[in-house]
Amino acid sequence: MKMRKVVSVIGAGNVGEHVASLLALRGLVDVRMFDIPRKDGEKVIEPVKGKALDIRQMLAAIDIDAKVEGYTVSPEGNGYEALEGSDIIVITAGFPRRPGMSREDLLEKNLSILSVICEKIKQYAKEAIIIVVTNPVDLMTYAVYKMLGFSKRKVMGMAGVLDSARFKTFISQEVKVSPKDIHAYVIGGHGDEMVPLISISNVGGIPLKDMLPKEKLSELIKRTQFGGGEIVDLMGTSAYYAPAASIVEMVEAIVTDNKRILPCSVYLEGEEGKYYEAEDVCVGVPVKLGNCGVEEIINIPMLPEEREMWRRSVSSVRKNLKVVEEMLHARSVL
Ligand code: LAC
Repeated sequence: MKMRKVVSVIGAGNVGEHVASLLALRGLVDVRMFDIPRKDGEKVIEPVKGKALDIRQMLAAIDIDAKVEGYTVSPEGNGYEALEGSDIIVITAGFPRRPGMSREDLLEKNLSILSVICEKIKQYAKEAIIIVVTNPVDLMTYAVYKMLGFSKRKVMGMAGVLDSARFKTFISQEVKVSPKDIHAYVIGGHGDEMVPLISISNVGGIPLKDMLPKEKLSELIKRTQFGGGEIVDLMGTSAYYAPAASIVEMVEAIVTDNKRILPCSVYLEGEEGKYYEAEDVCVGVPVKLGNCGVEEIINIPMLPEEREMWRRSVSSVRKNLKVVEEMLHARSVL
């Protein structure tokens, strides 16, 4: 009998390996890591197996029971058999951003990587809940949702938890209060036009807009919108500590069925799309997470100027969605 839930992490780069180690440290789930082989000079090496073993030995050192395994896969899709039995699959595979690149620059390359992965998920793990992390994440979530054909409740992208964590960090530094007591959401696409919602943000219940002058609030919004780029410029590659922790929050909400409300990129249409004026697109909104995946989409209130920002953010996701749709057509998915 399977005792512990299984989380598979596809892509064991910076984000994937930190997700695996954080999940393992919580001792809640077993983790399976998948990645392609690499070369060390002429020698072919299997870092994913090494990382899994290293994490496992870390657990032994601190008395945590969880199984962590690494599987080397080929870019063509061989070696994914161990996806079978996964309750959740986190997809981090793909090229990360380098300085000067937008998330959209990654579109074509990452879409082909994900199309191979989706074939394998369909083959081995039809029941799994999928968390997409690969950038540009709203577009990739849309593509994965379409390529898999799973229920829209079971496919979501990670961005809003990360963007909200950045927003909370900056608010916390400004008002000098623990982020624990700061309530703030960032919704919209995971791009420079994301929407940090000032109107509903509060610090220990006090509205943020009553605590800081307008110019300060605008600065916080700007810094949050460019929060990913700030790290890319400093590190030469994308962030990974905060993204990994954000994924773990989502995994934990699903595994423990704790019904947390977290902003996630989800497919909007019909009644739910109406409030958000968004149809047939994946974009970040607050959702209730539980063991069925997305259990409810929350209609968060917005001031008129926030609604205007929201519309701009959705239309910028839409702009690039056309390219994704053409690529999916070419693959006979749409
Ligand atoms: C960032 C990447 C994960 O925002 O998009 O850091």
